[in-house]
Amino acid sequence: VTAIDTPSVTQALRRAAVAAVLAPSIHNTQPWSFVLTRGALEIHADPSRRLRVLDPQGRQLVISVGCAVFNARAELAQLGYDAKIERLPYGPESTLIARITAQSGAYDVVLAGLSGVLHDRHTNRREFLPDVIPETLVEELIAAAVAEHCILSPVVSEDHRALVARLTQQADTMLNGDAAYRAELRAWITDDPARMDGLTSAAIPHVDGNSHQNVPIRDFDTRGDGSIPAAGENNDECLLLLSTRDDSPLAWVRAGEALERILLEITRAGFMASPMTQLVEVPRTRVELRLATGASTYPHVILRVGRAAPTPATRRRRLVDMIEFGGDYHDDPQPTI
Ligand SMILES: Cc1cc2nc3c(=O)[nH]c(=O)nc-3n(C[C@H](O)[C@H](O)[C@H](O)COP(=O)(O)O)c2cc1C
Repeated sequence: VTAIDTPSVTQALRRAAVAAVLAPSIHNTQPWSFVLTRGALEIHADPSRRLRVLDPQGRQLVISVGCAVFNARAELAQLGYDAKIERLPYGPESTLIARITAQSGAYDVVLAGLSGVLHDRHTNRREFLPDVIPETLVEELIAAAVAEHCILSPVVSEDHRALVARLTQQADTMLNGDAAYRAELRAWITDDPARMDGLTSAAIPHVDGNSHQNVPIRDFDTRGDGSIPAAGENNDECLLLLSTRDDSPLAWVRAGEALERILLEITRAGFMASPMTQLVEVPRTRVELRLATGASTYPHVILRVGRAAPTPATRRRRLVDMIEFGGDYHDDPQPTI
């Protein structure tokens, strides 16, 4: 029996799957599934959960699965394991996003530290207080993106902030003018207690047409019962842009891992964030943003960062409904947890 094949590795990989499902995902679609064998955890994309209108290429889906991959890595590090990640081992056409194996030994202490806040990270769409985000935190977030092979750029100059605001407004207006987009959004907003995915009114701001936000957050309030107060006029919020050097599925996986690493760092520092992706969902505004930021990188997510009252956790599907056990799993004498 090799080190890789011990029951405790299997147990650790199972706990990694438990951690993975806490990840953020576009519209809380949770577009992932898992295959666990004695030596490996496979994290797959679930194409049936792709947003057909918003996400024709599956980019947001793959970024979401990348977030789940990062959580699995953090949990394995916390359990004392050195995780080996093979990304897209069967190429971009396969649903297999990452195969993870683990060996006890030199684990990543930074990742281990982040696992402590997996349960505390929630998207917060409230208006943020006028706190200034410490420069040292911004530098740490930039370094976190670099560690995940991505680029994080603070949007600071007046020109760039005005551009992000204009493009987000434009994209938001175009998306909301599309009946199919609104119908798709509505399908993921529900207070049905039996639903384990999607957004509830507790997570979404009330939109009453009186918002003065320069950079409008996505209008999820399709029924007018969003319970977070409508945003006011704090237009100085810290904005960060996450980009990659390629626009390949591999780069999207990396962008997801970077996004979750950054979100967990923000959480650990006592701040909150909400991702905004309208402007990259509309091809025209995405191209314009790209050209304005040098054209050598591909933008994926704008993050608002700040501090506000907490928002409750969103729901998650049960792991048993998304996990399969590979042939040799049941030979394991201790398939616990
Ligand atoms: C790739 C991606 C894109 C997202 N885009 C937006 C967005 O445009 N607006 C928004 O309010 N939230 C956005 N979110 C946040 C999700 O809605 C959120 O993660 C999901 O509802 C689960 O809630 P939680 O983050 O609180 O766990 C995005 C998340 C991901 C991973």
